[in-house]
Amino acid sequence: MVKDAKINKYFVIDFDSTFTKVEAFDVLADIVLREHPDSEGLKKRIAKITNLGMEGKLSLRESIDKRLEILQPEKRHLTPLVKKLKDLVSDSFKRNKEFFETHAANIYIISNGFREFIEPVVTEYGIRSENILANEFIFDEREKVIGFDLDNPLSANNGKVEQLKKLSLPGDVYVIGDGYTDYEIKHAGLANKFYAFTENVERASVLNKADHVAPSLDEFLYLNKLNTAISYPKNRINVLLLENVHPVAIELMKSEGFNVESYPAGLDEDELCEKIKNVSVLGIRSKTQVTAKVIEHANRLMVIGAFCIGTNQIDLKAATKKGIAVFNAPFSNTRSVVELAIAEMIMLMRNIIDKSAKMHEGKWDKSAKGSFEIRGKKLGIVGYGNIGSQLSVLAENLGMKILYYDREEKLALGNATKCKSLKELLTQADVVTLHVDGREANTNLIGEAEFSWMKKGVIFLNLSRGHVVDVKALRASILNGKVAGCSVDVFPYEPISNDEEFVSELRGLPNTILSPHIGGSTSEAQENIGNFVPGKMMDYINTGSTSNSVNFPNLTLPTLENAHRLIHIHNNVPGILAQINKVLADNGINIVGQYLKTNEHIGYVITDINKEYNKDVIKDLRAIEHTIKFRVLY
Ligand code: NAI
Repeated sequence: MVKDAKINKYFVIDFDSTFTKVEAFDVLADIVLREHPDSEGLKKRIAKITNLGMEGKLSLRESIDKRLEILQPEKRHLTPLVKKLKDLVSDSFKRNKEFFETHAANIYIISNGFREFIEPVVTEYGIRSENILANEFIFDEREKVIGFDLDNPLSANNGKVEQLKKLSLPGDVYVIGDGYTDYEIKHAGLANKFYAFTENVERASVLNKADHVAPSLDEFLYLNKLNTAISYPKNRINVLLLENVHPVAIELMKSEGFNVESYPAGLDEDELCEKIKNVSVLGIRSKTQVTAKVIEHANRLMVIGAFCIGTNQIDLKAATKKGIAVFNAPFSNTRSVVELAIAEMIMLMRNIIDKSAKMHEGKWDKSAKGSFEIRGKKLGIVGYGNIGSQLSVLAENLGMKILYYDREEKLALGNATKCKSLKELLTQADVVTLHVDGREANTNLIGEAEFSWMKKGVIFLNLSRGHVVDVKALRASILNGKVAGCSVDVFPYEPISNDEEFVSELRGLPNTILSPHIGGSTSEAQENIGNFVPGKMMDYINTGSTSNSVNFPNLTLPTLENAHRLIHIHNNVPGILAQINKVLADNGINIVGQYLKTNEHIGYVITDINKEYNKDVIKDLRAIEHTIKFRVLY
C-alpha cells in the first residue's frame, strides 16, 4: 500500500530562491555587468523591470525581453553562472540529496528561468533532465542570446499552470516554492498542497495563501513523512543566543536550519526561566547565570554553549543531572593571551610604562639604564597548559630560555626545561608568568614566601586568575624593589560593569601595567569562539559526539552510515548497559556499534543499530529506570 502511495505523489519544485538561494537573473547580471562602466545603474534598471513584472505592470515576456536587452548575455557567461548557482543551492536542499535521488521519477523542477543554467545545477542532485520544465534561450551564431523559445508555455504569464495542465500528473501534487506563480498552480486546482518555502525569502502575498509554511526542505519532508537526512527538522529546534555572541555563530546555526533567536543582552533568572521552556539549544557568554532554577524549567534543553572560557556561570551539576551537555571554548583565545604576555614583558623590560607617563608630563628622560632585551633571558612559566605551552613556543622563538613548572606531567616543547618544583623555577627566572587554572587550591599560590624566592629585579606577570596572587605581597615586592616591573590583567575582585570603580592596592605603582581582564579579548578570539562553540553543539546534536564537553563523558563518534543511532543518557548506576542490550536483543535488533562512557554522575551510551527496527523498542528503551534523556538519530 505504502508503495502505491509513493508512486502517486509528485513534487513540483521552483528553482529561483527555492532550489537555489538566489534569483539566477541577478547573478547573471553581476557576471555580465562586472566590467561595465555603469554596472550599478544598469542593475538598478533591471531591478525596476523585475519589480514591474512582479506587480503585474509588465507581462513575463516583456520583463524577460527588457532584461535581456540590457544584459545581452552570451553563452560564455553561463559557465560562471552555473558554478555560482551550484554553490548557492539552498542549504536544506544540499543536506537532503537522498530525497531527490530516491524520488527522482516523481520530482519536477518548474521555472520561468532557463534550462541552460538550471539543468547542470539540479541534475547533480539526481533530478532527471526530462523532469525539468523551464524556458530556453535562443543563441545566434556568435553565441549571443537573442531571444527565447516563445512556444514554451513557461515563457508567458500563467506558464506554470499551463505547463502543469500539459503534464497532467496522475496523482497527488505538492508544490514547493517562494513565489506567487507557484501558488497559482494550487489555485488552478492542479496541486493538492502548496508549501511556501521561506528559507531564502519570505513573501507576505504567498505566506497567507500557503497550506503550510516550510522554513526548510526538512520541514516539508517531515510533514510528509518522507526520508530525510535528519531525524527531526532543524527549523523546529529553537536556539536562543544571548549576550551578543559573534555574528558568525548566528550565521552558522541559521545555515544549519535551526530556528535561531538572538539578543544583544543577557536575561535575568526569571526571564530566562520563562524563555527556556521552548529552547533546545542555549548560547550564552559569561554574564547569564544558568542556575538550578533555570535548569528546572529547561525541559527541552539539550545543550548549552558557553561562548567564553569559564563555565562558572552555569550550574554544571544541575545541567548534568538533567542530561544537558555543556560546551565552552577553552582554546579560542589562547593566542591572544600569549601575544599580550609577550608584548608586556618587552614593555616592562624596557620600563616603557613609566617613560611614556613621564613623556606625557613633558619629561624627556633618555637613558639605557634598567632597560634590557628579552633575548637570552629566562622565562619561568607556571602552568604549562594551553596558554603556558604556546607562550613557551613563541617566547623561545624570540630567543628566551624557557623554564616551566606544572603540577601535572607535561611534555616539554622545543628546548623548554621542566622544573621539579615551583621554587626551582622561581629562583632562576628573570621573568615569571602565571598560567595556572583557577582552582580553589591555587588561591595565593604566589605570596610572600614565593616572592622572596624570586631573583631581585624580576618581571612578574599574571594573566591567569586574580586569586592566584596575594596582591598585598605583590605590592610590597614592587615597593621594595624585588619586582622591577609587573603586569596584572586579573584581580581577586573585578568590577561587575564599566561603571564601577576599579579598586586595588596595585594602583599607582611604578612600572606596573594594569589591564581590565582583556588578555583574551580580541576580535580574532571572539570570532574563533563564534566558530568553535556552534561546531561543538552541532556535532553533539547531529552525531551525539561529546568531545571537549565540560560535563559529559567525552566520546568522539564516527559519522553515522546506514544505521540508526540511539543516544541514551542515564544516571551512572550499574547494569544500565545490560538492560539496554536486553531490550535490543528481545526485539531482535542487530547492534552495528556501541560506545559507552561514564563520569561520576552520568552514563552515556551510544548504540548504532541497523536500519530496520520495530518502533516499540524506543518505548522500551525510554522506560528503562534511571534514564535521563533518550533520542534517536536517523
Ligand atoms: P589550562 O587548564 O590549559 O592550563 C592550566 C595548567 O596549569 C594545567 O596544565 C594545570 O595542570 C596547571 N596547574 C594548575 N595548578 C597548578 C599549580 N598550582 N602549579 C603548577 N601548575 C598548575 O588553562 P589555559 O587555557 O592555559 O588557561 C590558563 C589560565 O589563563 C586560566 O586560569 C584561565 O582562566 C586564564 N585565562 C585568562 C584570560 C584573560 O583574559 N586574562 C583568557 C584566557 C584564559
